[in-house]
Amino acid sequence: MSKANIIDGKALALSLRASIAEAVAELTDKHQLVPGLAVVIIGDDPASQVYVRSKRKSTEKAGMASFAHTLPGSTSQQELLDLIAGLNADPAVHGILVQLPLPEHIDESTVICAIEPAKDVDGFHPMNAGLLATGQPALAPCTPVGSVMLARQAARNLSGLEAVIIGRSNIVGKPLAQLLLRENCTVTLAHSRTRDLAGVARRADLLVAAVGRPEMVKGDWVKPGAVVIDVGINRIATDDGGTRLVGDVDFGEAVQVAGAITPVPGGVGPMTIACLLRNTVQAACAIAGVEMPKL
Ligand code: GUN
Repeated sequence: MSKANIIDGKALALSLRASIAEAVAELTDKHQLVPGLAVVIIGDDPASQVYVRSKRKSTEKAGMASFAHTLPGSTSQQELLDLIAGLNADPAVHGILVQLPLPEHIDESTVICAIEPAKDVDGFHPMNAGLLATGQPALAPCTPVGSVMLARQAARNLSGLEAVIIGRSNIVGKPLAQLLLRENCTVTLAHSRTRDLAGVARRADLLVAAVGRPEMVKGDWVKPGAVVIDVGINRIATDDGGTRLVGDVDFGEAVQVAGAITPVPGGVGPMTIACLLRNTVQAACAIAGVEMPKL
């Protein structure tokens, strides 16, 4: 049986980051505009620390300004809201990202709503979600945008494709459904209560797994030749006492059936950070009233 093409997210993210660095250089030279990204992290969740460090490094590498705010787990909701108010008012900050998950005593929705929508580079604010849903220019969430770019690598024209997304989160599933509608896909948003999930998945020309369940999507859930985008990043224990990263798709099985598939790691993950930088450039241009350089 022929094996699927492996969609190289690392390579695509590298080339996107190179164009972003060029755009930043142009904005700095021509308009004295240095896009700035503030990242706020609360507590000491090791996975979050890793993400945040890597976001900071990539931001600086692209020539942008990076502002890191690391707060103790005991920070009150009001202290966090005060910090956000300061960042909303700071002209050097064009993008604000509050790393999720937050400690239990802080209400996620209150925090997201406190971020100025024009600086909401995660695209989580209801204003941006609404703009996206009504087809207007918006800051769109990074992981879904990256997923669409990867799907386009495999199938240049997504128009008319049957797309099935497994997972209905506000961060991935729902905004991805909106983006794929814009691409003229026929979109099914499946979830844990979907009847015959395997059968629904098997209808997909484009199958996206975003559930956070290691290797849940098996080879016989995949239509032969389908494009498979795996958003999951799950750390599982190995027989030798170590750990390894796997996606929501059983890669070993699905690669035998799919036409193209993203690996984990090296698929969607690197694209998320590249899209965050892109959103920061987009936000900086919109705030400054400058046309965004072509990326
Ligand atoms: N935690 C895991 N992924 C994300 C993300 O994309 N944005 C934020 N803010 N937190 C996250």
